[in-house]
Amino acid sequence: MKTGIFYGSATGTTADVARRIARLMNVGDSDVHDVAGTRPDLVGNYDLLILGSSTWGNGELEDDWYDFVAGLQVLDLTGKKIALFGCGDETMSDTFCDAVGILYDRLKDTGATFVGEYPADGYTFERSAASDGATMRGLVLDEVNHPEMTDLRLRAWTDKIKQMAD
Ligand SMILES: Cc1cc2nc3c(=O)[nH]c(=O)nc-3n(C[C@H](O)[C@H](O)[C@H](O)COP(=O)(O)O)c2cc1C
Repeated sequence: MKTGIFYGSATGTTADVARRIARLMNVGDSDVHDVAGTRPDLVGNYDLLILGSSTWGNGELEDDWYDFVAGLQVLDLTGKKIALFGCGDETMSDTFCDAVGILYDRLKDTGATFVGEYPADGYTFERSAASDGATMRGLVLDEVNHPEMTDLRLRAWTDKIKQMAD
């Protein structure tokens, strides 16, 4: 299953996580794309799309995502799988990793199948657009307050996605 990783990152955190995911998934550097300056139709080259955004403002997508996701929304992504991840800050307790939920909402009618939900256990927040309470729409990471959790979470999540992709 050909995998492409697409990320938007303002200060480099999500970019770094994207590279860590790539190593764990055996995805080459040339298949890791910063959405700033990438054409949305490049997703046509891949079967599995791993999409990541940090959350900015008061629960908003990272800026570079706006044009890219608008470009994806007009594509037919039937037959493709999408796994979402995001970086945020649990102390922003009403908008924790909202970008993951925003990407889900924007892309849920494209025909793609979503994979890579992650248990909400172990996170502390009041509300997140990425969560229905028990699960998160994708992997959420808090590199600000809990970087020590990231390696474990990345391994558990990528193992699950690899099993699905086999
Ligand atoms: C001004 C500002 C607003 C932020 N807003 C949110 C937010 O609403 N929700 C959240 O979970 N994190 C929020 N964050 C935290 C960032 O998402 C976090 O620092 C992330 O790791 C940044 O990743 P990036 O460098 O890839 O953009 C905010 C950070 C800043 C500085």
